[in-house]
Amino acid sequence: MTTDPISIAAAMDAERDPGSDTPSAADGERRTLPPVLSKAPPVAMVIFGASGDLTARKILPALARLADRGVLDDGFTVIGVARTEWSDDEFRAHVTESTPDGGPKWRALTGRFKYVTGEYDHPDTFDQLRSHLDEADRIDGTDGNRLYYLATIPSVFGLVAQALAKHGCTGPGAGGNFARVVVEKPFGRDLDSALALNDEMHRAFDESQIYRIDHYMGKETVQNVLALRFANAIFEPIWNRRYVEQVQVTVAESLGVEHRGGFYETAGALRDIVQNHVMQVLALTLMESPTSTEADRVRDEKVKLLQAIDIPTPDEAVDKSVRGQYLAGTVDGVDVPGYRAEDDVAPDSQTETYLALRLRVENWRWAGVPIYVRTGKRLPARVTEVALTFRQVPFLLFDHRSSRDLRPNTLILRIQPDEGISLEFGAKVPGEKFHIRSVAMDFSYDEAFAGADAADGYERLIHDAMVGDATLFIRSDEVEQAWRIVDPYLTAWSEPGGGLHFYPAGTWGPHMADLLVERSGDEWRNPVVDLELSGGRQTHLEQ
Ligand code: NDP
Ligand code: BG6
Repeated sequence: MTTDPISIAAAMDAERDPGSDTPSAADGERRTLPPVLSKAPPVAMVIFGASGDLTARKILPALARLADRGVLDDGFTVIGVARTEWSDDEFRAHVTESTPDGGPKWRALTGRFKYVTGEYDHPDTFDQLRSHLDEADRIDGTDGNRLYYLATIPSVFGLVAQALAKHGCTGPGAGGNFARVVVEKPFGRDLDSALALNDEMHRAFDESQIYRIDHYMGKETVQNVLALRFANAIFEPIWNRRYVEQVQVTVAESLGVEHRGGFYETAGALRDIVQNHVMQVLALTLMESPTSTEADRVRDEKVKLLQAIDIPTPDEAVDKSVRGQYLAGTVDGVDVPGYRAEDDVAPDSQTETYLALRLRVENWRWAGVPIYVRTGKRLPARVTEVALTFRQVPFLLFDHRSSRDLRPNTLILRIQPDEGISLEFGAKVPGEKFHIRSVAMDFSYDEAFAGADAADGYERLIHDAMVGDATLFIRSDEVEQAWRIVDPYLTAWSEPGGGLHFYPAGTWGPHMADLLVERSGDEWRNPVVDLELSGGRQTHLEQ
């Protein structure tokens, strides 16, 4: 695994044609690639919910990769906590099973991992945890630093925080520098419960110790929105209502609810995707420039942007949203069941698996620009993107026939898959006639940074929590404001008239969602077809 600039360059050099001594154009860029992640301090990481799905599928594999990159300190250990009755050895076996790709550095650490079986409302659980933490400091060299990870069911987050406080675990141990707590999503079910949870968390921890995670913020391409906007002079002058006609955010998934029907029934697309992932992406895309990259300066600007998003009345919320649920259909040639036939889903479920919204941002930069958001499961492709469509030229020189294939300039931030940025613009088709059509100028992460071995979202975020960088985590006022924005939709949909529209799996959502944008003379982009039509690179969108 290559982790420093020199070894990355060396690995790339090794891949180059040995017969060629001509430096490639990208060589300068490659030699200066920074280390992927810095070394983390010693720390005991306590995972509540250690027997769960997230721990097995995301947290442990991320830790294994961090270990094998050489990022974890020798004084690192994990203490798992859950109700499942496991011995230390059984937990270690679970760790090994969950990280089949773990290398020698990871395996060298896992032998010391400990496990506590217990209920979160029982003092024995925390007494045992406390003694394991003390032992880790003495024997494993964790130096009194603690990182708690709440990866359990959200209804016990507050309970765990209170119990940690009661047992004197919310500060660092002897000689330690920090105790921090990472809190999984969802943070609350609505504004009231989020306020109550913040209150409970703050009674146990200082806000500076709380790291509310949103894995979208760990995605390189989401962070690249900051680089695109604030490291380049050419975009800022046109990044506003004078030039941008509309913004569309799409978070489309081809998968259904998989094995998470029980959870999804309590959530729906608004709580699962819009309140967190979409609001974060929107905030980064539309906020003003922070005065520095310091965590609170970035988060201040995100909060200000969220505060500018209009909060509809329940009636307006019905008018500006379309919620849908997938029926049986075909995705990528495979027949799939409807949502109501999924495991742990009620046969008359009213939960939305699709949502389209029309938002407004009421500030000088964005007033009057429609912000369309849509997300859904069982759509034709997995694609997350932000598309800024620019206004038409004031006068088009070319007649309608020669410019009928010309579409407005659009800048597409492709978050996943096929990560990159495309700019669609008009070009003359070769030939005698003046025929104009849209083409795409394309930046691909894979091609530009081949071999860079970027950390995945969880890796990056767990690392940042270890080193104490809260920039990519959600502050209490952010999470509350995001709930203020979405709460009226929840209220509106619980009233008669807040209906559900159905769509066959494998389509782009209910017809009503098309009408939502057509009312304003707009239409949804088709992220797959539009890029191909524009002559852009062939897409590799996962179906
Ligand atoms: P699981 O359903 O797998 O449960 C996690 C843990 O909760 C289990 O280890 C279980 O352990 C414990 N648990 C279950 N019921 C209770 C209870 N009544 N009291 C105390 N503990 C209980 O959940 P996930 O791992 O999927 O999710 C964990 C967290 O991560 C949630 O907040 C979820 O929203 C979030 N998340 C999950 C994602 C995923 O892909 N799985 C993605 C994004 C966020 P035991 O029974 O042994 O105590
Ligand atoms: C999670 C949601 O937060 O994000 C899931 O709970 C969803 O329902 C997932 O599938 C999507 O994440 P990604 O990284 O695959 O876009």
